Amino acid sequence: MGKNKLKRFTENAGFPHVFQPRMEFPMPDHPLKGTWKSDFFKNDHPLTLELGCGRAEYTVGLSGMFPQRNFIGIDWKGARIWRGAKTTLENGQTNTAFLRIMIGTIASIFSTADDVQEIWITFPDPQPRDSREHKRLTSPEFLERYRSFAAPGCTINLKTDSRLMYDYTLSVVKAQGLTIEKSTDDLYQTNWVDEVLSIKTTYERIWLSQGAKICYLRFQL
Ligand SMILES: C[S@@+](CC[C@H](N)C(=O)[O-])C[C@H]1O[C@@H](n2cnc3c(N)ncnc32)[C@H](O)[C@@H]1O
Repeated sequence: MGKNKLKRFTENAGFPHVFQPRMEFPMPDHPLKGTWKSDFFKNDHPLTLELGCGRAEYTVGLSGMFPQRNFIGIDWKGARIWRGAKTTLENGQTNTAFLRIMIGTIASIFSTADDVQEIWITFPDPQPRDSREHKRLTSPEFLERYRSFAAPGCTINLKTDSRLMYDYTLSVVKAQGLTIEKSTDDLYQTNWVDEVLSIKTTYERIWLSQGAKICYLRFQL
């Protein structure tokens, strides 16, 4: 392992807002499940999650814009999470936390008491092989996990360069009869690009530099 990665892992372990529960099967409930507001954030604000956050540009950007909300960036890769954790610590953005987990275990981390009102899924791995469909973060299996803790009317935002991921998610959302609030296969040709939608993640910048179109879908869970 590179020295830089090792340094980031060591720093993560000392950060007060980075949580790295040990993987177990079955995964036991996290000690903060149902009490994130009172026991960690020390406020009564609603929670937004960023799934597969990587360096967590949405968590960092949104938490700065909306101090009356709490944000948690989630990814399996600790060296990526470190970037968002370091920035928010340095900026004193106390309305953020980070979780290093496999998202398949997310139902052990949150309950309806945590008031998750919004989820961002930013440039997820499209898992193109049919046999891996259940691993897509918008598959019926994952939506069911999110439903176990989401607040009523919770919105899910998907930003992706992958036409496959966009079309797939649209088909799941339509099959489940969910309410679609916004849907486009070319975000930057719409007039929706406000301060929030113009936040760009690391992967988004890479795809944009290659001339890719960005798809965006917002629906109610
Ligand atoms: C293509 S990258 C996008 C990262 C970031 N959102 C961006 O747009 O720059 C996908 C990220 O999702 C994470 N990821 C994919 N599946 C995951 C899972 N099941 N559990 C946790 N993290 C996952 C990967 O580790 C990776 O950082």
